[in-house]
Amino acid sequence: MAYENILVETNGRVGIITLNRPKALNALNAALIGELARALDMFEADAGIGCIVLAGSERAFAAGADIKEMQHLGFPATYKDDFITSWERLSRCRKPVVAAVAGYALGGGCELAMMCDVILAAENARFGQPEIQLGIMPGAGGSQRLARAVGKAKAMEMCLTGRNLSAEEADRYGLVSRVVPLAGLMSEAMKVADTIAGLSLPAVMMTKESVNRAFETTLAEGIRFERRLFQALFATADQKEGMAAFVEKRSPSFRNS
Ligand code: HXC
Repeated sequence: MAYENILVETNGRVGIITLNRPKALNALNAALIGELARALDMFEADAGIGCIVLAGSERAFAAGADIKEMQHLGFPATYKDDFITSWERLSRCRKPVVAAVAGYALGGGCELAMMCDVILAAENARFGQPEIQLGIMPGAGGSQRLARAVGKAKAMEMCLTGRNLSAEEADRYGLVSRVVPLAGLMSEAMKVADTIAGLSLPAVMMTKESVNRAFETTLAEGIRFERRLFQALFATADQKEGMAAFVEKRSPSFRNS
């Protein structure tokens, strides 16, 4: 099926989704979010894909939810239709997603980036939750994920004033994995994604699940959860292959089983 608001391609075992509404700085309208969900469904079902890269343009990862689309909404429709539900598809993706963020990642754009697992930021990236300036507030997890990522004081300042973070600040505060030159953003994101996609998919998926559990449970429960997954991986052929390859001083050849 054709896409109108995103570009979808593959490179080896990496699926690449590029947000593509350049005239609106990749403002996230319902059509785009629907297409994103469809592309994620496809990559998740594809055994040939081990990791996904989500990117925007050099000017904007995404400048937020589409304000023109939301402008005339009332509470009943916002509540009944609950359009944010479809945004959650990204946070439910079981395969790792690397966000390649250049330019603006504002409002829903910042929230989308925070739903990803690794965020690489170009030097020109700007992260912010400016919703307060529109008389609203973050609605796709921003107040929660930002507070967990950068702590209460910084999250409060960002959400209450709308101040953006530079890439350097975002790096210092732990919001992003690292900052890279704009020209090298996609190649770095592909390097990370290729590395992940070359590993054992069951181990990768369980690792993602385990790290995410850290944000949803107590330390003792999280550690129990991690241990069970760790033990489960000893039932995979890839564990045998990975350890045999180490002992035999060769590269492993994982079968994702
Ligand atoms: C709709 C948007 C948009 C958005 C930009 N555009 N952001 N359209 N929704 N979020 C459009 C502009 O209207 C304009 O279209 C074109 O993109 C270029 O934008 P400019 O403003 O002319 O560019 P510039 O002067 O460079 O300023 C860039 C900017 C600014 C600082 C990023 O566009 C901006 O402040 N955008 C809004 C950011 C924001 O408030 N985001 C949060 C949205 S609420 P025309 O047709 O005029 O050329 C949100 C809630 C999420 O995200 C909750 C969960 C669902």
